[in-house]
Amino acid sequence: MGSISGRHFLQIPGPTNVPDRILGAMSQPTIDHRGPEFARLARGLMEGLQQVFRTSGPVVIYPSSGTGAWEAALVNTLSPGDKVLMFETGHFATLWRNMAARLGLDIDFVSGDWRHGVDPEIVQAKLYEDRSRAIKALAVVHNETSTGVTTRVAEVRKRMDAAGHPALLMVDTISSLASIDYRHAEWGVDVTVGCSQKGLMLPPGLGLNAISAKALSASKSARLPKSYWDWEAMLKDSQAGFFPYTPATNLLYGLREAIAMLLEEGLENVFARHSRHAEATRRAVKAWGLEVVCLNPEEYSSSLTAVMMPEGCDADELRKVILERFDMSLGTGLGKLKGKIFRIGHLGDFNDLMLAGTLSGIEMGLGLAGVPFRKGGVAAALDYLVTEEPYGDRSAEMRGVQ
Ligand SMILES: Cc1ncc(COP(=O)(O)O)c(C=O)c1O
Repeated sequence: MGSISGRHFLQIPGPTNVPDRILGAMSQPTIDHRGPEFARLARGLMEGLQQVFRTSGPVVIYPSSGTGAWEAALVNTLSPGDKVLMFETGHFATLWRNMAARLGLDIDFVSGDWRHGVDPEIVQAKLYEDRSRAIKALAVVHNETSTGVTTRVAEVRKRMDAAGHPALLMVDTISSLASIDYRHAEWGVDVTVGCSQKGLMLPPGLGLNAISAKALSASKSARLPKSYWDWEAMLKDSQAGFFPYTPATNLLYGLREAIAMLLEEGLENVFARHSRHAEATRRAVKAWGLEVVCLNPEEYSSSLTAVMMPEGCDADELRKVILERFDMSLGTGLGKLKGKIFRIGHLGDFNDLMLAGTLSGIEMGLGLAGVPFRKGGVAAALDYLVTEEPYGDRSAEMRGVQ
């Protein structure tokens, strides 16, 4: 152990660092979830979440992890044996596919190399071929947290429209919501899946579904069994500001604070901040002589960077050295990338000096772990951070409001 004082650096790609403002908000006394004060809280949250998801439709909040919100999206809209088109973009896309198969859905899983997002051309070709309209839904992971690759959802939507196919579009925004530009309504998404512990800066424990009118109408005839996840009871009670079962009241206090923080900064500024930190990180990786997992610059993730280890070096050994010596947690490689990559989370409540500390820990760790690399990654990132204004064209205006 290097030092036991100072704070731990939690630089996994979620759960992310929870800011003091949110911790403070969550420490308020729990209130009656069937009383008037709670109803005011819940109604305000609905309005706030609509701004975050960019929709005017309903958003359901579950006391669950993101996996629960995945299941809710599927069981509320589909029937046993329905065909679903899914894409092997990485570990999380594979887990969602496995869940859908276990629920009795018929999955067409388009294989992938875990270094690219969903190919919009394949979407169009697959849907065009589907003359009988057997495909009932597409399920896409917007930001593959296992690889640091972001799928171009607007482009996927365009190709669905070009094929004139009526399938529902479901998108997992678990590691992109409130970090990377996302537009539920404008992009014609039917169910957007989110959760609390990443861009929303909260602890784990809330799962989210934003629902389109088309998804709501599909839910009226969907026959997969459901009870806890049933939208109907959730939506009915939410009109009065309530839940059909006990909500995670204190996490909801935190959510109110998180939404206030995001709207104070402005979502565009939040996205610009994430994209700038991602670019600085990639410059560091390049200067170290290492490679990022994502192969298409149009698909670089703003919320995390996954880094390939040189042949013969174990990523988990490096992570162990960095944890023991510098008290920093980095993301492990998942599934078939175990040991081959490490992941740097740079999402949520994060700033330039936190990034500088993170990259410094990695650069020192690379040396201590005996990984062949070049020094100078931190310097490359810092050079970029000092020359590139935090919020691009909006920086002067942002300084004015502070
Ligand atoms: C893209 C993505 N989808 C789904 C999940 C599963 O969410 P949870 O672990 O909250 O159930 C994760 C978790 O990291 C994720 O990153």
